[in-house]
Amino acid sequence: MPSRHGYGQDSGGAAGLTENSSSFKASFDPLAYHAPVLPEEVIHYLQPAPGKIFLDCTLGGGGHSELLLAAGAEVIALDQDAEALAHARQRLQQYGPRFRAFQSNFRHFPTVLEEAGITAVDGILADLGVSSHQLDDAPRGFSFIREGPLDMRMNRDAGQTAADLVNHAEPGELVRILREYGEEHNAKRIVRAIVDRREQRPFETTLDLAQVIELVIPRRGKKTHPATLTFQALRLAVNEEMTVLDEFLAQAPQWVKPGGRIALISFHSGEDRPVKQAFARYSTEWLDRPEWPEPRRNPDFCMRLLSRKPIEATEAELKRNPRSRSAKLRVAERLPTSA
Ligand SMILES: C[S@@+](CC[C@H](N)C(=O)[O-])C[C@H]1O[C@@H](n2cnc3c(N)ncnc32)[C@H](O)[C@@H]1O
Repeated sequence: MPSRHGYGQDSGGAAGLTENSSSFKASFDPLAYHAPVLPEEVIHYLQPAPGKIFLDCTLGGGGHSELLLAAGAEVIALDQDAEALAHARQRLQQYGPRFRAFQSNFRHFPTVLEEAGITAVDGILADLGVSSHQLDDAPRGFSFIREGPLDMRMNRDAGQTAADLVNHAEPGELVRILREYGEEHNAKRIVRAIVDRREQRPFETTLDLAQVIELVIPRRGKKTHPATLTFQALRLAVNEEMTVLDEFLAQAPQWVKPGGRIALISFHSGEDRPVKQAFARYSTEWLDRPEWPEPRRNPDFCMRLLSRKPIEATEAELKRNPRSRSAKLRVAERLPTSA
């Protein structure tokens, strides 16, 4: 569903940014770059303390990392976006060697930990999607209300852009992307319009695409921009976000110490579903099927859920940070190895 990271209409305004001031303000005010969501809840569940070490898979503006560091913990942080990394490194330099940051996709987190000589951590945090700064920064091409190149890559050094995708992908593939990643019911109609238009002239900019979508899916007074789900879907496809999440979920438990925790923050149902399913698989001790004579022990059983339902922002947080409105936090704890 459209969300803070799904290009809600308040993109920009909600973070208190004005159209042209985000980069300027961000260098002075960390919250203008990105306000971390569910901050108290993340700290409550991860329990940072001196002597503990955490992996922050999605450093972004460094807000969550800073909370862990301020509590005395050590943090290994990853981001695939070089610009985010540079910003957060500067912001967190006061923590010295307790903070180490690497440019990496978190699908490769085991390699980073291995290279840092770390075999297990006390907690892993992944705050999925893009930051407010990425969303609001027109040249990154994530926003359908700001003119910029149709890019959408979190890592600008690699991979195909959203323009590559809309200009060259098979129509059937585009329909699949819009349906699967955007749950866009008008996928076929939108793709037909995209194909008609690209045959005359390739897409180059965000507004170029947004306007073509708006022509075939009129707003009819609705608050949500008709390009919302298409942009969300393209971003997920460009950055292979669902594949990366699956790879991460398959590996994460092995890297957490007994009693250590994995905290995942998602922003739309497509992201939350695999997290919920993976946590359910890891926390189910016995499996049963009608064709089995008796239940069997689940070989993947290694965690317990710390909350059955996802944790969401309080009214107070929603007021101060409207972009937290679709955030869902799920936390699971690693059981002792003998469990
Ligand atoms: C929602 S923001 C994180 C905000 C951060 N928790 C904070 O407090 O400022 C997500 C960040 O993770 C990065 N990111 C998203 N997916 C990633 C991936 N697969 N590998 C590495 N970084 C990723 C994005 O570039 C972005 O900077």
